[in-house]
Amino acid sequence: MAVAGSGHENWSSRSAFILAAVGSAVGLGNMWRFPAEAGENGGGAFVLFYIFCVLLIGLPVLLSEILVGRHGQANAPESVRRLARDSNAPEGWSVLASLGVFAAFLILSFYCVVGGWVLYYVGVFLGDLFQTGLTGGAFEGRAAEDIEGLLPGMFGDGALMVGLNLGFLAVTMFFVARGIASGIEWVAVYLMPVFFVLFLGITIYGAFTGNFGQAVSYLFTFDFSKLTGEVMLAAVGQAFFSLSLGVAGMMTYGAYANRDTNLAETSGIIAGADTAVAMLAGLAIFPIVFAAGLSASAGPGLMFQSLPIAFQAMPFGSLIGLAFFIMVFFAALTSSVSLLEAPTAYVFEKFGISRVAATLIVGLGAAILGILSALSFNELAEFRPLAFIPIFAEANFFDALDGVTAKLFMPIGAILTCIFVGWVADAKLIDEENGLDGVLHQTWRALVRYVCPLALAAIMLVGLFG
Ligand code: PHE
Repeated sequence: MAVAGSGHENWSSRSAFILAAVGSAVGLGNMWRFPAEAGENGGGAFVLFYIFCVLLIGLPVLLSEILVGRHGQANAPESVRRLARDSNAPEGWSVLASLGVFAAFLILSFYCVVGGWVLYYVGVFLGDLFQTGLTGGAFEGRAAEDIEGLLPGMFGDGALMVGLNLGFLAVTMFFVARGIASGIEWVAVYLMPVFFVLFLGITIYGAFTGNFGQAVSYLFTFDFSKLTGEVMLAAVGQAFFSLSLGVAGMMTYGAYANRDTNLAETSGIIAGADTAVAMLAGLAIFPIVFAAGLSASAGPGLMFQSLPIAFQAMPFGSLIGLAFFIMVFFAALTSSVSLLEAPTAYVFEKFGISRVAATLIVGLGAAILGILSALSFNELAEFRPLAFIPIFAEANFFDALDGVTAKLFMPIGAILTCIFVGWVADAKLIDEENGLDGVLHQTWRALVRYVCPLALAAIMLVGLFG
């Protein structure tokens, strides 16, 4: 039986919930992190293992998280506590969601740094549109090194980096402070459709003007020998990052879902849309990059260096570049609001303060922590906070946070969620929530009880120590 609501807001409709959840999932993870990770981890092997992870691990965990939230109707730790209590299990299980809330806060702090870069490039292309006009390529007459140099130029300016970070965070805080209906739901309902239109347009443009064939073979040629433990862990981490899992975000959004929403169906839509956008993002970015004769292994530089150079040779380059970065900004904002909402909901419900006050407290914390990430590319470039962990030995503060959250916090959060939902919580309560029956129900249950936790534990072991 569901616990009575705590009087909080709900999504105004099922489609608002879907847009908000898809908005949380689709973001910098798809547009920036996925192509970069695929490039760094050898392309096809990574991509196919990624799809495998989404289907067999991500999707079952996504449904588990949303249903815990909807049963609990509260912030994530409180939702887990309520489900544990209703199942006569120890309420201490709520710690799995507390870890998640903390991880969401950590991710928020560096996510807004990248969000700031996106804002910067919106400005760069807007300026260029005025300078070079509509029809020609972007950055007319400028050398490639010049365009490539925009990124290190921005990195080198500490005040600019911090300012951009705070700017993006402030926009995020504004919408979260306004609450569900007029804030979080508003950005999802207005920005996500615009995102999809721009996104499809640019993908089609890339397919026609770029080297589509090379991109397809790069992304989908499966070379088994490249599938090392580290690549597998990177793929799982990316799947979780992209689906917003293991960090209480989807639990928090699930808590605002109405009782008549079919959660299994909704989870399928979210995972399907997110994966489609990741694949299409690869198919939009790589053709443009390959057509310009650039390499795929550029990692994070792919979106901020290779792509702008590639736009130089393209018709309507400045306009397409501007549209591209506006679209990425929209996607990033609908994700960052979910990262901020998870800790904010926890703080205001737990301490009985207003939503606005909670947003300010969490936002201030993220601003302070974010400065360390914003300065990781120049001032603090030599700082190696996790030098004692081999796979993070070379990581600066930004990369360390990114690595620890995707490769440790998210998988551990997911393992605990699977054990809790699959073994600890009362199966009858779970059945009332999940919207599945028959074979699908049994498959989901077997995945959550056995396959997901074991596979995750194994991948973490080989990825970290193998
Ligand atoms: N899924 C988001 C993206 O792909 C990032 C995110 C992670 C959002 C975790 C919420 C929780 O950009």
